[in-house]
Amino acid sequence: MTQLLLPGDANALGAAFGGSVMGWIDIAAAVSAQRHARQQVVTASMDELHFHAPIKIGFQVILRARVMAAFRSSMEVGVTVHAEDPLTGERELTTSALLTFVALDRAGSKLPVPPLLQASDDERLAGRAGGAAQSLAQAAGEAMRTLLGVALVAAGTAGFWFGAVPFKHEETVFKLGAIEAKGTVDKVNVPKPLSLGLVVAGTALLVLPGRRKK
Ligand SMILES: CC(C)(COP(=O)(O)OP(=O)(O)OC[C@H]1O[C@@H](n2cnc3c(N)ncnc32)[C@H](O)[C@@H]1OP(=O)(O)O)[C@@H](O)C(=O)NCCC(=O)NCCS
Repeated sequence: MTQLLLPGDANALGAAFGGSVMGWIDIAAAVSAQRHARQQVVTASMDELHFHAPIKIGFQVILRARVMAAFRSSMEVGVTVHAEDPLTGERELTTSALLTFVALDRAGSKLPVPPLLQASDDERLAGRAGGAAQSLAQAAGEAMRTLLGVALVAAGTAGFWFGAVPFKHEETVFKLGAIEAKGTVDKVNVPKPLSLGLVVAGTALLVLPGRRKK
């Protein structure tokens, strides 16, 4: 897809307005996903977006989109944007993006998409990288969720049983074998409903299924 950068799509510095470039990226990627699925598609996410260089007014904007990986109802699409100097034909990579699209029917129900036929080794490699990146992102998200769940349950349980967590000044006797020492510990009293809330929230995070499941 090719655009011409006109002043209406430029910022105060005379270069492309990022929002316009994002819009073009979305369209180019949607066309690519639609051609692959031969279904209506919606943008589920723009996972990555990098502006490497500005695009000057009067330059041609060349967008290339390609389905990198196809899953059940979703597709990962990579987009590159090059700016071409109309006088010299010189091209520069200005933007790259990775988006996810989901195929839907008219009622809004998800539809399966065909697998990606990868003709060359490069395409197979790119597809595997896309799949691996998605799995990695999901695994990272799930690990964070589990960690947060465990931390909330632990904090809630501690607050519930001990009624206090470190923060308020309180005189305490420390014992190490025969050695006794007096000192202050910073403690704050935690109300029981708050502790219970923390336990419930943590348990919900651990028990309820995540948003993206494969
Ligand atoms: C995108 C949308 C269809 C997902 O619906 P959902 O019920 O949450 O979908 P599910 O959790 O069942 O996931 C369905 C697929 O989408 C993927 N998905 C859902 N949310 C996602 C996200 N934020 N990022 C990437 N992939 C996502 C899932 O991994 C799953 O893929 P798979 O079928 O290949 O395994 C829904 O959130 C939606 O309609 N969003 C609004 C879309 C929109 O208006 N876009 C802008 C205009 S086009």
